[in-house]
Amino acid sequence: MILRLGQVELFVTNLDKSKEFYVDVLGFTEVERTETNLYLRAADEFDKYSLILTEKETAALGSFSLRVSSPEYLEVLQKKHEEMGIETQYLPKGTHPGQGPVLRVAEPNGHPVEFYHSMEQIEVGGLDGGVDALPMRKSHLQNGIPPICIDHMNLRVKDVDKALEYWQAIGFSISEYVQDGEETFAAWTRAKTSTHDVALVKQEEAALHHFAYIVDGVAGVIRTADLLADAGYRDNIDYGPGRHGATNAFFLYITDPDGHRLEIYSGDYNRDTDLPPIGWTKEQYDKKGRLWWGPSVPDSFFKTTPVNKEWLKTPVQN
Ligand SMILES: [Fe+2]
Repeated sequence: MILRLGQVELFVTNLDKSKEFYVDVLGFTEVERTETNLYLRAADEFDKYSLILTEKETAALGSFSLRVSSPEYLEVLQKKHEEMGIETQYLPKGTHPGQGPVLRVAEPNGHPVEFYHSMEQIEVGGLDGGVDALPMRKSHLQNGIPPICIDHMNLRVKDVDKALEYWQAIGFSISEYVQDGEETFAAWTRAKTSTHDVALVKQEEAALHHFAYIVDGVAGVIRTADLLADAGYRDNIDYGPGRHGATNAFFLYITDPDGHRLEIYSGDYNRDTDLPPIGWTKEQYDKKGRLWWGPSVPDSFFKTTPVNKEWLKTPVQN
């Protein structure tokens, strides 16, 4: 079975600028750097890394990777894709440092997806010597927020219903969806029990809208806004902080030096994956799904209170 989202690879145009943003300001841990790649981990992750930044001419989503429960399941998935008429490619062990073989596909909207099982884990000590330290117990070495762990992808797709056929065929469950007349406008799909690993939202062109990392509660969300503003990255704050209606999570959308949008995310719910999804109408979603706390800039914000123009002419009453 597919377990969860494990990593994202972004193409960036200047590795040094990206390093400043992700490592020096946000507090990702730099695990390994090559001439063209930066491998980063969030504070509570046991996997060696979850974010790969690859320097290229043009910024883009490189790929995102889902972890599966066994090496054999990669073969099961390969067969499933062949049955669906989707081409697959095997990458050998070590294509990414510390990672086992990878099954690579382009899902029906063209999004680059990889599946893997084996990934080098953080050293925590052994039975003989006992546990030295869990990965999250390095707080004395951390700076920035820091991000806790990778959470989800938000993809734009032309036909959400067709995309859902694919994601359900490979075992994903829908937690919430938005119905717009005959068609689905958006859906949150998952392998794990939280609200989503992959969100799908209708748009003419397939694209990455954002990828998300969990932070430590609403305080972590606010801290991110402070960090960016204080460090001179005020213009990289895109939208929020706020609370979503759909998923119930706290959010802040920020953009990296190449314009990739990262959602700083906390507090969505967990719900068993066999339970039926929760549906919103498009009207409900537009009103309170994106932002539970009211519209982003309410019309009422532009209403003003008239000033007493007679003030100076009015005699002071004693
Ligand atoms: Fe999101």
